[in-house]
Amino acid sequence: MLARAFAVLTLLATAACGGGGNRAELDGATLYELHGCATCHGDGGEGRSLGPPLADLGRHWDRENLARYLLDPEAVIAEDPRLSALDAEYPSEMRPFRNTTPEERLRIADFLLALD
Ligand code: HEC
Repeated sequence: MLARAFAVLTLLATAACGGGGNRAELDGATLYELHGCATCHGDGGEGRSLGPPLADLGRHWDRENLARYLLDPEAVIAEDPRLSALDAEYPSEMRPFRNTTPEERLRIADFLLALD
């Protein structure tokens, strides 16, 4: 746990000091942790009181739609009755993760689709 936290801190420092577009390439699992997804969805996407489980997402999502959802959850929820119903079950909701690049959102999407 501590080792993992240290790894994340090191990555953050690398990302922060990289400058000039020299941003570190972080994998989907690390991005999931860095952006606080686990706070609501659990470390392994098992779900918590603040967010639903993220298992079997391939039934409803492809990677492009997931990436779009991370950028603009409100728009996607408005189009999707299943998500609106899910939203109503939880006290909080997804916020837009605008501080991610399109590439990073796709990497997070790939990580999510591999969860089961
Ligand atoms: C503040 C709590 C919170 C955080 C932080 C959060 N989520 Fe969510 N997430 C939710 C809630 C609540 C829902 C249910 C739909 C809604 O309310 O938007 C949801 C829905 C989802 C869904 C759709 C699940 C389904 O059944 O289709 C995915 C995928 C998802 N989140 C991924 C993420 C990722 C990836 C991150 C981090 C980048 C993240 N979430 C951060 C609370 C959160």
